Amino acid sequence: MTKQNISRRDFIKATTTFIGGLIGVGIGLPTIAYLLSPSLRKTEDESIVDLGPLDKYPLRIPTLFEFTRTKVNGWERTGLSYGVFVLRQTEKDVRVFSDICTHLACRVSWHPDQKHYISPCHDGHFDISGNNISGPPPRPLDEFVTKIEAGNLYIQLPAFKRTT
Ligand code: FES
Repeated sequence: MTKQNISRRDFIKATTTFIGGLIGVGIGLPTIAYLLSPSLRKTEDESIVDLGPLDKYPLRIPTLFEFTRTKVNGWERTGLSYGVFVLRQTEKDVRVFSDICTHLACRVSWHPDQKHYISPCHDGHFDISGNNISGPPPRPLDEFVTKIEAGNLYIQLPAFKRTT
C-alpha cells in the first residue's frame, strides 16, 4: 500500500516535471529567439532613397537635399541625418555627392560666389565636381550611385569613396 502511494507520488512528480519542462521549453525557446534575433540581423544601411523629380533640380547648381534614416542595430535605433548635393550637369546627367568632408567629417556647404564646396572646420575646399582642391581634405567628396526612373531621381546608400 505504502509502496504503491510512493510510486503514484513519484509518477505524479515525474509527470509534473516533464510537463513543466515542456512548457518551459515551449515558452523559453521562442522568447530567447525573439530576444536574440535583432542582434543577429544585418545592420548595413543599403537602401534606395527617393530624391524626387529630377526636374526640380536646377542645371549646374549644386542643390542640397536632406533626409533622415533610422539605423537599426540590434535593439538600438538611431536616427541618422544625411545631406547630399545634387549636381544636374545636363538634362539627364546627374551626380550626387555626400556633404561630409573627407578630412574630419564636417558638413560642407556650397558657396556659389567661389563655386566651391567649403568645409568650415579647417577651410577645406572642393570644386563643383567634389574634387578636393585645397586645405586638408585628402580625397574628393564621396558620391552616390544614381538611378533615374520615370523622371524621378534615386540614390543608393551607402556612398562610395572616389579616388579622383
Ligand atoms: S573637416 Fe573639413 S577640412 Fe577638416
